[in-house]
Amino acid sequence: MKDTLKLEVARGSDEGGQEPVVYEVPYVEGMSVLDALMWIRSHTDPSLAFRYSCINANACKECSVLVDGEVVYACAARLTPQGASIKPLQDKALLRDLVTDIAPSKEHLGAALPRRNRAVEA
Ligand code: FES
Repeated sequence: MKDTLKLEVARGSDEGGQEPVVYEVPYVEGMSVLDALMWIRSHTDPSLAFRYSCINANACKECSVLVDGEVVYACAARLTPQGASIKPLQDKALLRDLVTDIAPSKEHLGAALPRRNRAVEA
């Protein structure tokens, strides 16, 4: 018999509200939160939305989520057989499920633009 863990994942959007959905995932020692989310999307629910880019290289910094209330990179955070609760970042605009808006704020973008483009922004 395979060991499994339970992941409670926040689903939904700002408009419709979020609800926790519990998924059962095969547990493999050393697996990351991202590994479990990818397993869910491949085997159980292809509609689950989450963001990642570099896949376990901890380089892109796009996979930030809350795991049991703590901000982590999903690709670096390891799971235990006890499972976990996964939620989107709370200080960013929620797009869907675990995906939040990571675009830089207008102030940061304006400061980064060359001088000749700042007039266009104003
Ligand atoms: S997937 Fe790139 S840092 Fe986590």
